[in-house]
Amino acid sequence: MSPSWDVTVRTLDAEALQPAHGRGPSGLPYRTHGLDVVALGGDRAPRSGQDRTALPWGVMRILIIGGSGFLGTELVRQAAAAGWETAATYCSRPGGGSGASWHRLDVRSAGQVDELLAAVAPHAVVDATSGGSDWAVTADGSFHVAAAAAKVGCRLVHVSSDAVFSGARVHYDEACLPDPLTPYGAAKAAAETAVRLLSPAAAVARTSLIIGDGGSAHERMVHALAAGTRDGVLFTDDVRCPVHVQDLARALLELAGSDRAGMFHLAGADALSRHRLGVLIARRDGLDAARLPTGRRADAPVPGALDVRLDSSATQEHLRTRLRGAPEFLHVR
Ligand SMILES: NC(=O)c1ccc[n+]([C@@H]2O[C@H](COP(=O)([O-])OP(=O)(O)OC[C@H]3O[C@@H](n4cnc5c(N)ncnc54)[C@H](OP(=O)(O)O)[C@@H]3O)[C@@H](O)[C@H]2O)c1
Repeated sequence: MSPSWDVTVRTLDAEALQPAHGRGPSGLPYRTHGLDVVALGGDRAPRSGQDRTALPWGVMRILIIGGSGFLGTELVRQAAAAGWETAATYCSRPGGGSGASWHRLDVRSAGQVDELLAAVAPHAVVDATSGGSDWAVTADGSFHVAAAAAKVGCRLVHVSSDAVFSGARVHYDEACLPDPLTPYGAAKAAAETAVRLLSPAAAVARTSLIIGDGGSAHERMVHALAAGTRDGVLFTDDVRCPVHVQDLARALLELAGSDRAGMFHLAGADALSRHRLGVLIARRDGLDAARLPTGRRADAPVPGALDVRLDSSATQEHLRTRLRGAPEFLHVR
């Protein structure tokens, strides 16, 4: 059955999470320059119970690659709540949140990635996989996703990291080129280049330490250090711009629903050391911050950048989502 399309026109600064690009099943473009032309109704109208305030006119399909991860879980939750028809992938941890159809995917296999994108036929893909320093996942896997997205002509938002920078210049805006120090940073930088070249219409979004309401690796580490159940220190000279996972997911979905291309910085508004971040987490969670061991990265045999501050102000100007700083989102409840 071919859907019936009512066409409506609205201005560009409407709801942040509204998908507004690509083509409907009929091949109708959703977006023209300066105006969004969106398709209503048909066989993909919003299901009852969905947040229609975020997506009032029709449903578009999004694929969250790495949906079982920390960021991916929040992306899946928000995308489904906003009314996207949501598909998501896991690699080793099946299950995942409700509201999405789940698919097993290993991005190291170009064939698997091609097959999945052809089967799901998403309007937008957010690639939130993390393979750490494993080149085959982080660099080659991102290449496979970008190539597959280019083949099917869908929107791609690729998540990158402040680890692409050495810290030599401290402040980094969207125009800065990578100069990584670690294998992880090098793989993320290679992935950025692959995405840019294979999918010039894609959005590459660099972010920093991702914090939640208790669930991130960073928060778990602070709890373990405060409890004395693990060794380690929190560096006082290692500075980043932590971001809240809800802000980050919302901003990524905002990008997914736009046709903005190029480099974006999605980090929190404030720069602080890992120790200062730990103290704020400890205070929020009622832990004794004085128990947190401190150290200096400069004195430790740990490779990596010291002071990397992603400047997100140019990206923030065009976003409805506000990227809060850690002192704000970690306020004592
Ligand atoms: N966390 C941070 O503080 C931070 C900071 C800067 C940038 N980032 C970036 O943000 C993104 C999300 O990070 P995160 O912390 O949410 O990562 P995460 O929790 O470690 O999740 C990683 C995701 O990637 C999937 N994955 C791993 N290997 C895979 C493979 N071979 N094929 C397909 N999927 C695979 C995992 O699936 P399974 O778990 O099912 O195996 C999981 O869904 C990444 O791009 C990361 O580089 C994170």
